[in-house]
Formats: sequence, C-alpha cells, structure tokens
Amino acid sequence: MDTAERILRLLRREPVVSGEALSDALGISRAAVWKHVEALRAAGYRIDAQRARGYALTSAPDRLLPAEIERHLATERFGRRLACFETIDSTNLRAATLAREDAPEGTLVLAERQTAGRGRLGRSWVSPARVNLYASFVLRPRLAPADGPQLALAAAVAVARALRTLPGLAPGRVAIKWPNDCLLDGRKVAGILTEMDAEVDRIRSVVLGIGVNLNASAGAFPAELRDTATSVLLATGARVDRPRFAAALCGTLEAIYDRVVREGFGALAPEWESYSCLTGRVVTVECAGRRRTGTVRGIDAGGRLVLEGSEGEARIMAGDVSIVDGYRMLGRTGKEERP
Ligand code: BTN
Repeated sequence: MDTAERILRLLRREPVVSGEALSDALGISRAAVWKHVEALRAAGYRIDAQRARGYALTSAPDRLLPAEIERHLATERFGRRLACFETIDSTNLRAATLAREDAPEGTLVLAERQTAGRGRLGRSWVSPARVNLYASFVLRPRLAPADGPQLALAAAVAVARALRTLPGLAPGRVAIKWPNDCLLDGRKVAGILTEMDAEVDRIRSVVLGIGVNLNASAGAFPAELRDTATSVLLATGARVDRPRFAAALCGTLEAIYDRVVREGFGALAPEWESYSCLTGRVVTVECAGRRRTGTVRGIDAGGRLVLEGSEGEARIMAGDVSIVDGYRMLGRTGKEERP
C-alpha cells in the first residue's frame, strides 16, 4: 500500500484527522502529508482542510482506483493483484500478457475505457469511458481443456449474482441467455469472453473477460444496439458504485470458480438454470456454419445446451443463439411473456 492509500485509510477512520496525526502515523513530514493530500485531490478525492483541526475526506471519485476497490474486497485471490488503466486496447489482451508473465490466479485488469474491446465471435465490445466495468481475470484452472468453456457459463452466474445484490434489482429481472450473456429486463447488460492458452491435456491459463454496462446512458450505445442492450442505470434509474460492484464481482466469481473447479459445472447447473431465459423456448443455434432449430430443454452437467429438434436431441457446447420470436418478445424478466 502506498502512502496516499494509507492516508486515505486513516481519513476514512475519523471525520477529521490532524496533519500532525497523519505525519506521526506515517513517519513523514507534514509538508509531505500535504503533498500527498494534493495528489489525492488531483485524483478526484474531496479532502477539506479545516483550520486548526485537520483534514476531512468528504467524497471519493467515481473511478476504478485500486484503493477504492480494495476497501470493499473480501476475497482471498480474486482482485488482490490489480492493474487499473484509464485507457487500454483490451483488458483481455493485457491480462493475456500478464498470464504469460506468470501473473498469479485472480490477477485482475480493469480499464475505464477500451479502444479495442473484444466480444465473442470476433465482434467488438462498445466500451465508453468511466461508466461501465471492463474486467479481465487471469485464471489457472486445473481442468481438462475440453471443460474450459464451463468457466464462461459459471462466470455468467457470478455476474448475475453480483447484479442481484444491487438495489432495485428484484429477482427475475436478471437472466442468463446461453451460453453467457446476462440480460436485464430482457436486454443484454453484460457479456463474457474467455480466451484459453492450453496444451493438448492441460490449461496453462484462461483469461476471463467480463464487460458489464453499469452507468451508461442510452447515448453511449450505437443506434444498432439501443433496442437490445441496456445498463443498470437505464433499467433502474440508480447509479452503480462501480468500485463496490467490481469488488462484489470478485467475491461472487471467486466462490463460484472454486466450486466449479472442485466439483465440476454440474454443481452449479441448477443455479444456472434458475437464471436461464431459454428453457422451453424455440431457438436457432448457429455453430461452425451449422444452424439448428429446436426447443431448449435445459443445460447438462457439462454445460451443453440441450436442444430438442426435429432430428432428435442435440447437445451443443458453443454457438450463437437467437430466440425464434426475438428479443423483443422477452418480457420484463427476460423469461416469459409469449404473444
Ligand atoms: C460478448 O461478446 O458478449 C463478450 C464481451 C466481453 C467484453 C469484455 S470487456 C472486458 C474484456 N475485455 C475485452 O476486450 N472483452 C472483455
């Protein structure tokens, strides 16, 4: 922890802390304390100087800064090593570099803005500045490479659980669309992109990238996404405390990841199913140039979508799903409401 972070920690303990108390606690001069306070103000903290009394922290900036995230973190590994960027091409690319440099499991890369945010199936991920969460975790699961895709399914449950902790998000508003889109009121609020570095029989590392639209306004989305995408702010009218949400996500993810690695995805499948907006619906799945249409019967213990079509039952590991009657036919919950 650097000196500025220690000053913040002390200022959070008392309404007002004297310059002398800070300089004694940190073993630095009062001039040095003042210099650090100035640096914190420049980073967006409001610190009032009260004559003859000391410094009072009155507000923190809405920024994904390590000190702001760490104070909410309750994890052992996830987010404990943290790299935060103002602008980056893609947090997944940066996390992949860190993974190759032996970064420990749980290392988290965050950015306020991505210039080349990556989505599934070669798509891009719209990443406007300072409103959302763009996060990539380095994972080193002891799983067979064939089971790697289960991590993205599990991560969708972690995102759904973290969203459910937010005020105003009653059960039923958050849903998962296989394989790992998170929906809020039937519109996409979060996406997950896992990228694996593996040998034939061993995963070296997985980068788990998660984008969550938190405080984006309608204007932040390109016109072609406005009907199908949303943010928590748009859906609930309430701004999300992004550092707190980032820490909550680290918590839900660590718990779920450890369980899946220990017990397999099957242990999580019932919870995944409870969020699924596809079960019972007629969908078309596109995978490797093949299109299949059928009714979704659920998900199996390996994370495969169970689809019952005219040619019988198919179990599909990856693909792009469209609901035959379209996104707009999803109800507020993203689940029911048929015409
Ligand atoms: C999807 O297409 O649904 C997946 C989107 C994943 C976006 C996230 S944002 C953080 C991380 N960095 C990236 O470049 N992509 C992922």
